[in-house]
Amino acid sequence: MGKGEPLVLLHGFPLDRRMWEAQVAELSSQWRVIAPDLRGFGQSVSEEPFTIESLADDVHQLLAGMNAIPCILGGLSMGGYTALAYVRKYPADLRGLILVDTKAAADDPQQREGRAKMIELVRREGARAVADQMLPRTRPAIARAVRAMMEACPAKTIEHALAAMRDRPDRTAELASISIPSLIVVGDADVITPVAVAQSMQMQIPNAMLAVIRGAGHMTPMEQPGQVNQALRRFVSIVQ
Ligand code: MLT
Repeated sequence: MGKGEPLVLLHGFPLDRRMWEAQVAELSSQWRVIAPDLRGFGQSVSEEPFTIESLADDVHQLLAGMNAIPCILGGLSMGGYTALAYVRKYPADLRGLILVDTKAAADDPQQREGRAKMIELVRREGARAVADQMLPRTRPAIARAVRAMMEACPAKTIEHALAAMRDRPDRTAELASISIPSLIVVGDADVITPVAVAQSMQMQIPNAMLAVIRGAGHMTPMEQPGQVNQALRRFVSIVQ
């Protein structure tokens, strides 16, 4: 939606483009905001397995077809893992990078085990059981909207995404070579990717900015759209 500098926003797991509704609605008055459904999520129908890197390739192909290269690319959590894969592979096609409630580190052995358990759960009981397990970590004010997205996510996609996240490489060592303007956004009460993780990324990415969002957990764009939109607006204005 909108015209001007392309601002691309990649959703988290197991969600879809609707998590960016408040950003699309407000920021499209100034920029061309593109919030795609990643492969298999939302309205993207696919049963193909994928990796985080292949998701980045999908996004690149999509943006090329929409004449939206170069762009400013942002992603939340799994969308952030994808944005980090993208900046590694297509640095010349980016004007700016926005990392929201995400991290560069790979899964540790315990997290990998958790992925395997969740794969079993989704195979056995479907998307609703995954939503039941994840929702206690979601703030009540947005729980309904988040549940709707989670339950709409095909079980196969959940399985593929869990395997993709489990197998993603550690990108910590790559942070120092990111040479485009970057913004890191994190909720002050994010327990999945805490403020300390965001601060450490800020120290490693040259000249990165950091916005700590007050009164937010892991889903800052939905929980505190006003603060997040302000941070994005400021960043895009500087970069474009
Ligand atoms: C997400 O929000 O995309 C997930 O929490 C990411 C993850 O499980 O690593």
